[in-house]
Amino acid sequence: MDLMEYQAKQLFAKHDVPVTLGTVVEKAEDAAAAAEALGGRVVVKAQVKVGGRGKAGGVKLAKDPQEAVELAREILGMDIKGHTVHRVLLAPAADIAEEYYFSFLVDRAHRNYLCIASIEGGVEIEEVARTNPDAVAKVSIDPQTGVDDAKAAEIVATTRFPAEVAEEAKAVVKKLWDVFIAEDASLVEVNPLVRLGDGHLEALDGKVTLDENAAFRHPDHADFDVADSGAGSQLEAQAKEKGLNYVKLDGAVGIIGNGAGLVMSTLDVVAYAGEAHDNVEPANFLDIGGGASAEVMANGLHVILGDPQVKSVFVNVFGGITSCDAVANGIVHALELLGDEANKPLVVRLDGNNVEEGRRILNEANHPLVTLVDTMDGAADRAAELAAK
Ligand SMILES: Nc1ncnc2c1ncn2[C@@H]1O[C@H](COP(=O)(O)OP(=O)(O)OP(=O)(O)O)[C@@H](O)[C@H]1O
Ligand SMILES: [Mg+2]
Repeated sequence: MDLMEYQAKQLFAKHDVPVTLGTVVEKAEDAAAAAEALGGRVVVKAQVKVGGRGKAGGVKLAKDPQEAVELAREILGMDIKGHTVHRVLLAPAADIAEEYYFSFLVDRAHRNYLCIASIEGGVEIEEVARTNPDAVAKVSIDPQTGVDDAKAAEIVATTRFPAEVAEEAKAVVKKLWDVFIAEDASLVEVNPLVRLGDGHLEALDGKVTLDENAAFRHPDHADFDVADSGAGSQLEAQAKEKGLNYVKLDGAVGIIGNGAGLVMSTLDVVAYAGEAHDNVEPANFLDIGGGASAEVMANGLHVILGDPQVKSVFVNVFGGITSCDAVANGIVHALELLGDEANKPLVVRLDGNNVEEGRRILNEANHPLVTLVDTMDGAADRAAELAAK
């Protein structure tokens, strides 16, 4: 689960990372009192789960409470990379001397944790990483020892934090590590971590991804689960409510399969087939698991058809314990349940346990939207072709 900046800052505060919480408002009029209480000069910051808000015009400085209201009005409702802004964070304007970049993340390739940091932080960090990679320090962290005093010192030295902030930087690095470990995060990023005019450090921004597999250890994290405004996250939230394993992607071929491995390879096969059809790509990952009942199939189709980018749907099922005739009946009844909502072509490939009976059921139903294709490659090609039309 990705957190918004104000939520990330709440976790930072819990672990004593220097941070100013500020105030979140959803109505522009409320910005006046909030800004007043924060000292008048504030930054108004769009709260959306996407980076580059500043460059998109979603972070602005107000010289007084009246301007804070005007800027809040401007930013609320704004679209930032497909995310509508429903809340803004008001934070006291900081006296920034320098901006640094700092992060901890899971380094899957090396089965390790990794710290990435730079003293050339701020909104241009991607540019710095591209044009001047030497300015970006990478320090790997052994999960067994974590960030102790020696590791914190190594991180600070490798990043080349200026001498006057080095001691404080070591302490902040260890506190950010506490956030990362104690909260079961897979990403903790601070950009910018700033040196203020008075010489102290403060986290002016925060991006945290929490590992949902550890949610059972953190009942308090449930409070962070506020609806995000991106179209993808809405579909994902809907799927989660129905207990479906769904991930939104960017393409036009909706995918339904049973078993994560089969669905992963279906994505590959569709992407490959798409090369011959306008480069269409998969629109999602959806594993309906075992027991593809009509209800589960209908729920899955409902989520996929709710994605306006979807042009065709590929249902790829290998009958095992759940036999193909059960799945075929599931598809037929799901289409009945969905009625007019089912309005895009469905390519179905069935194989495995009782496949003959499954195909017979679908052929007999003879639904105008359904095409039955025997092979996975053939079905992927047909689905891609239909999506490209
Ligand atoms: N409290 C503040 N006071 C003064 N300036 C600020 C404050 N917060 C942010 N800024 C300025 O605005 C810039 C952008 O803000 P921030 O990093 O929070 O958003 P962002 O653009 O979404 O970040 P990213 O590109 O890391 O996703 C910062 O680099 C900093 O220069
Ligand atoms: Mg930032």
